[in-house]
Amino acid sequence: MTYDDQDYLRRLPLLDRVLIGSEELSLRVQQLGNEIGRDYPDSTPLLVCILKGAYVFLADLARCLSVDHEVDFMAVSSYEGGTQSTGVVKIVKDLRANITNRDVILVEDIVDSGLTLSYLIDLLATRSPRSIRVCALLDKTAAREKDVRVDYRGFEIPKEFVVGYGLDYDEKYRNLPFIGVLKP
Ligand code: IMP
Ligand code: MG
Repeated sequence: MTYDDQDYLRRLPLLDRVLIGSEELSLRVQQLGNEIGRDYPDSTPLLVCILKGAYVFLADLARCLSVDHEVDFMAVSSYEGGTQSTGVVKIVKDLRANITNRDVILVEDIVDSGLTLSYLIDLLATRSPRSIRVCALLDKTAAREKDVRVDYRGFEIPKEFVVGYGLDYDEKYRNLPFIGVLKP
């Protein structure tokens, strides 16, 4: 944990603790970037950022990639301001890119029940991409309701509600440089 991380902890009374510090995050994101770079030496994968939660992760991940790639954005909502999945996935913003014959990498902040990703994978598969893979920073495997294959996984975490590094609670805490846990 850096001094900056500790400073945030002191200033935010609702925050319980740091789960993954900013240095640990950046090391792991670099490793994921290296892995992806190795797997796509001669294609130009399309990184699809699942908004809003994945925007911080995508920005850092893209800067760790040494292979050509493109980015696009998709916004879905499955949570209505709380901490429980409703199981209903709504496409709020669709892709601009045509993904036919493209290698697609879905970039997610966190896989929880798996409902969002499995819905998205099924939807995008109907558009005939060459491949679809998933890159998720965090994975709560113990919370899985729907099986999804996570090809690139940053960290497996316990079934706790986390915030920071793009993840929010009621639209707050996205700017934290670390992954933290709120007080119960
Ligand atoms: P799933 O459909 O249950 O897998 O949920 C996926 C989405 O729920 C993620 O993309 C997040 O936006 C949100 N989510 C799940 N767990 C958390 C959490 O612990 N903190 C913040 N958002 C979460
Ligand atoms: Mg999300």
